[in-house]
Amino acid sequence: MTEIIKINATAPEKSKIAAAAKYIKNGGIVIFPTETVYGIGANAFDGNTCAKIFKVKDRPVDNPLIVHVSSFEMANDVGVIPKEYTDVIKKIWPSPITFIVKTRKKFPKEVTAGLETVAIRMPAHPVALALIIKSGVPIAAPSANPSKKPTATNANQAIKYFDGKVDCIIDSERSFFGVESTIIDLERFVVLRPGPFTPEEIERAFGKKIKVDKIAKGEINAEQAISPGTKYRHYSPETPFYLFEGQIDSLIEELDNIEQVPEFAFIGSSESCTKMSKAFGCSTIDLGGRSNMYEIAKNLYDGIILLDSLKVKFGVIEEFDEEGIGLAIMNRIRKATSHKTFPNEIRNLKKV
Ligand code: TXA
Ligand code: MG
Repeated sequence: MTEIIKINATAPEKSKIAAAAKYIKNGGIVIFPTETVYGIGANAFDGNTCAKIFKVKDRPVDNPLIVHVSSFEMANDVGVIPKEYTDVIKKIWPSPITFIVKTRKKFPKEVTAGLETVAIRMPAHPVALALIIKSGVPIAAPSANPSKKPTATNANQAIKYFDGKVDCIIDSERSFFGVESTIIDLERFVVLRPGPFTPEEIERAFGKKIKVDKIAKGEINAEQAISPGTKYRHYSPETPFYLFEGQIDSLIEELDNIEQVPEFAFIGSSESCTKMSKAFGCSTIDLGGRSNMYEIAKNLYDGIILLDSLKVKFGVIEEFDEEGIGLAIMNRIRKATSHKTFPNEIRNLKKV
């Protein structure tokens, strides 16, 4: 049985937080909202329950979890926050940014996958923070999605995925950003996973240059991954799904040259959706206007989930500039399409 508790996102009701926290304290699994995506969490010191999270998600066991904290003190108690970064981190947390640091506390192997480092994040979400405070322990939580599937960014999707499989689901508002937090390896000062906190913003906050890992950019393949989770297929729909690299007008031209295009759906900006629907009358999934890339990030996973419900032969998504949040968007698109670009099998169906 899963208890579903509706909680106000901006002013969480104390008694309801207490009810959800009770599950964490008693060795249960609770799905909760954060500003990035929904998370599926347990007491970070409870190896047995954390192991259950892996089962429920069908997650590879060598992929460690993020430990969520509610204060800088709690963070520094579980990991070693380098002194030189203390002031900046105190200033920028809570926010959608996760730091990989050396562990201080001994964690169950399920949480850190036996590594000597731990991923720590203080979520900027009243419900998540209140839940951690009331539970009295750091909460280990991966994103709320079965392995390989797009992450739940709202309670309904979390319920669809996990009702009956976890102890409690907090039903609150849709996640503000819609993509997972930025992950920084503090020792090497590298972005391992791009997210809402952009490299430009990190450089401004820390006053120094940050490297963006090639995997984070999607330039090299998974096996050389440093952040273990980056090596798995992710966020994928069941429908064959391709990235079109190039301008939308080139896609229109290419499709125009094909005799019989199998029924497809286009995913992209409002501007491109209008063009595609005019040109082909195809189904379109509108992620929002290009002038607000945060809106596009927010709608991305829901868009990918929607694709499967359209029952088309394939989906094609357009590319976005890899600047700011665009880096996170393209990282997720490359994974969701498994690095498959618009295929020759379709291109070769040319008009004679
Ligand atoms: O926004 C988020 O970060 C969400 C919400 C729920 O907070 N959580 C999330 O967790 O995205 P998850 O498990 O889906 O992604 C965690 C990533 C994985 O790629 C994992 O490999 C990496 O963090 N990670 C965890 N511990 C690590 C470590 N010690 N060194 C390198 N990467 C690590
Ligand atoms: Mg995940």
